[in-house]
Amino acid sequence: MSNKDIRKVSSHISQNEGLIFEHSSPGKKAYSLPRLDVREVSAKAELGSALRTEPAELPEVSEVEIIRHFTRLSTWNYAVDHGMYPLGSCTMKYNPRVNEVVARLDGLVGAHPYQLEQLSQGALHIMKALSDQLLEITGMDAITLQPAAGAHGELTGILLVRAYLESRGNPRKRILIPDSAHGTNPATAAMSGYQVENLPSNQNGMVDLAALEAQMNEDVAALMLTNPNTLGIFDEQIARIAEILHSKGGLLYMDGANMNALVGKARPGDFGVDVMHLNLHKTFSTPHGGGGPGSGPVACKKHLEPFLPLPVIAGTGDAVLRLDYDRPQSVGRVRAFYGNFGMFVRALAYIMANGPDGLRQTTEDAVLNANYLRKKLEGTFELPYSTPTLHEVIFSDKLQAKLGVKTGDIAKRLIDYGFHPYTVSFPMVVHGAMMIEPTESEPLEELDLFIDAMKSIAQEAIDSPELIKDAPNSTRLSRLDETAAARKPILRWHPETK
Ligand SMILES: Cc1ncc(COP(=O)(O)O)c(C=O)c1O
Repeated sequence: MSNKDIRKVSSHISQNEGLIFEHSSPGKKAYSLPRLDVREVSAKAELGSALRTEPAELPEVSEVEIIRHFTRLSTWNYAVDHGMYPLGSCTMKYNPRVNEVVARLDGLVGAHPYQLEQLSQGALHIMKALSDQLLEITGMDAITLQPAAGAHGELTGILLVRAYLESRGNPRKRILIPDSAHGTNPATAAMSGYQVENLPSNQNGMVDLAALEAQMNEDVAALMLTNPNTLGIFDEQIARIAEILHSKGGLLYMDGANMNALVGKARPGDFGVDVMHLNLHKTFSTPHGGGGPGSGPVACKKHLEPFLPLPVIAGTGDAVLRLDYDRPQSVGRVRAFYGNFGMFVRALAYIMANGPDGLRQTTEDAVLNANYLRKKLEGTFELPYSTPTLHEVIFSDKLQAKLGVKTGDIAKRLIDYGFHPYTVSFPMVVHGAMMIEPTESEPLEELDLFIDAMKSIAQEAIDSPELIKDAPNSTRLSRLDETAAARKPILRWHPETK
């Protein structure tokens, strides 16, 4: 039978799967239970007036229908297991399966946070081992693993800064943030009650030192530096920046979410950083699809250690470990229990599977991959800064915008080529930014496919811009009303939406 003989009367439902409620019909069930062999009690007698009289409007479907529903929906997703996921600033790297094997070991997956300390020694030793490895990688003195995300780590770090300055009778009001910082940095500083002050970048995309010297005084609590910054540029003046801060009694916070460019190569503790956070769900390969669960440990120098959140892990080496709550200067609790333990297991598995040389190689490969893309796409897309970049590369849509095609259009068209879009319109210092981070996970073949796709889209911008402006054309749904989706999301099904 040739292709032209295959005819469809109508398109299959899987091409536009509806809500589970739309599959529902009264009386269908996805289970069958044995006959009751205990005395039946009357719900009415037990619950009285608390018993609802109307049945809940739940979908009634068979097992095969429910399995098909969720399996079909899962095919709508894009994942790093499908292909390259170049979402800049997010470090969407492959999550090695060995992490999953280790995290699912019975004793670990079944551990309870209220388990007695003497029964939790294995878990405590895992947390201690991870803490020690992260301190070695960052060159810092002390750490908490508790924060549940990078932004939560920032908040915790700034609380340490505030507690430290207050303990010296020297509270301050301002926090300086370069315009190339990650957006969570100013949000964190404002949430912690500080005035946020913008610090301009120079023409190389690094902190403008003259502006820093002019803005720095005894009222500045800290500078929050994303390094490498959101332009992918490592600020090589960081030791000098630390000196300027310290000379006036301020502290240097480093947003270390981009450590994928530094692990095994450079340690923030060696160039004057006082406090920093890491994103285990970026650099250390723990999954972060769908917003979590994340993990944003905060590492600091000795002078900030007394303020770390409660509890801290006490004890060393093979000794019995315990959780220490007797810390009078602590900023208190930042999270229930001790953080997302499953993420600690995965991150430690990743670190130990790679070893020091493997981690160094990972960093080198991440930087090499980003620079391969930069070299191959330079000229096709405008490169706003000529300064060398590390783990990510930022182009702008300047050349295509002249043809009416913007960064968001190009990103949507990438979906038709089978790739997840890059990060659109960020960082804000670059107009029409296209922020691309391949990570070390990508083989040369996948990078070349991505380059082909990007070049082909650039050609389409010249030949048939309408094709790009309507993209994606290959998906079940095309352009959504993104503003309405963000401002008026319908997150719950109500019978009246039927
Ligand atoms: C540089 C940088 N800082 C902070 C964050 C915030 O991390 P999270 O999303 O885990 O809160 C991110 C997130 O990608 C980031 O890229």
